Order: sequence, then structure tokens, then C-alpha cells
Amino acid sequence: MITLSPLADADPNAVESLLDAAFGADRRGRTAYRLREGMAVIPELSLAAYEEDRLVGSLQCWPIALHGADGETPLILVGPVAVDPERQQQGIGRAMMREMLASADGREPLVLIGDAEYYSRHFGFIADQAINWDLPGPFERRRLLARTGGRDLPYRGMLGPRRETKGALLR
Ligand SMILES: CC(C)(COP(=O)(O)OP(=O)(O)OC[C@H]1O[C@@H](n2cnc3c(N)ncnc32)[C@H](O)[C@@H]1OP(=O)(O)O)[C@@H](O)C(=O)NCCC(=O)NCCS
Repeated sequence: MITLSPLADADPNAVESLLDAAFGADRRGRTAYRLREGMAVIPELSLAAYEEDRLVGSLQCWPIALHGADGETPLILVGPVAVDPERQQQGIGRAMMREMLASADGREPLVLIGDAEYYSRHFGFIADQAINWDLPGPFERRRLLARTGGRDLPYRGMLGPRRETKGALLR
């Protein structure tokens, strides 16, 4: 049986091992990491999945922003979403995403870099709104997805850490 609990209560070393197993040890070079540099995870939207005492899944959410001509539009970066390779395709990713989406309802729009086939079909993320957004590094355009809850977002902009939050953290 799978249980979900706050990621803040998970063993950080176990989370890192799980992320290495799901994404490879070179994962820190990915552009997604640059998007949220200097940010702290959003605790109420970040989850761990356990099978008995074993960590089998993790989902992290981060405060980021779209920086455009009109200033900073706050967004939430979803990811990494990781499931133990031995336990993939068994509904664990879906359970974590559903729990997170229920808590994120009414909050800032969500953005992620991931497989459109998975995130579009099951969770309503689409590429349309993000089609002219830039990222601070290489990425596959079709994997940049947003879930805006019907809100219109700026057409152009650069995704990156929230400067307001960063300033607050540094003070
Ligand atoms: C992507 C990932 C989080 C999905 O979690 P999961 O627990 O394996 O998947 P679930 O069991 O919740 O979902 C199963 C369904 O999604 C589909 N699916 C799962 N991963 C998919 C993918 N990468 N692309 C397309 N469809 C996918 C399955 O075919 C299945 O569909 P169905 O119910 O219609 O048969 C997990 O496989 C993983 O950690 N992968 C490696 C890391 C990664 O790529 N993370 C995503 C980027 S942040």
C-alpha cells in the first residue's frame, strides 16, 4: 500500500538517491534546476510516497516567476516528479500529482518540464500558453507545459527564480 506524506519529513539522503535513480546522477545540470536556483521548496505542495517504510516517490514544487515586460508573474514549478524505477507505471506518480493539484487549487499557475503525453493526458498541462517563454538553458519546447486554471499569462517572458522571494530570503 502507498501512503503520501510531506516531503519535509523525508530523509533528504533517500530523496537524493531516488532522484539519482529516476533521472541519473547528472540531473543537476538540467535547465529546470536553474529555474529555481536559490529558492526553497514549497512545503505544503511537496510530497513523499512510501511503500511501508521505503521511499518510492517524491514530488517537489518551487516558487518561480515569468519575467517579462510587465514585471514578474509568480508561478509554481512542479518537479522533479520521481518514482522509483522499480515501481513506475503503478499509479504512484498519479497519486502524488493528484494530491498536489488538490492543494494547489486557487494558487499561482503551474509550470513544468516533462512528457506532454503524461502531464497533458492525465493532469491538464498544455504547451499553448508557454509557447513563447524562454528558459535560462537548453530545453525541448514541446516539454515546457503550463496549467493556468483559465488565467491569461504574458505571451513572452523568461522563466527563473522569483526575485521578490529571493530578495526576501537574502535580507
Ligand atoms: C514520469 C513518472 C513520474 C510517472 O510516474 P509513474 O508512477 O511511473 O506513472 P503512473 O503510474 O502514475 O502513470 C501511469 C500512466 O501514465 C503513463 N505514463 C507514465 N509515464 C509516462 C511518460 N513518461 N510518458 C507518457 N506516459 C506515461 C502510463 O502509460 C500510464 O497511462 P495509463 O494509465 O493510461 O495506462 C515516473 O515514471 C518517473 O519518475 N519517471 C522518471 C523521471 C521523470 O521523467 N519524471 C518526469 C519529469 S519531472
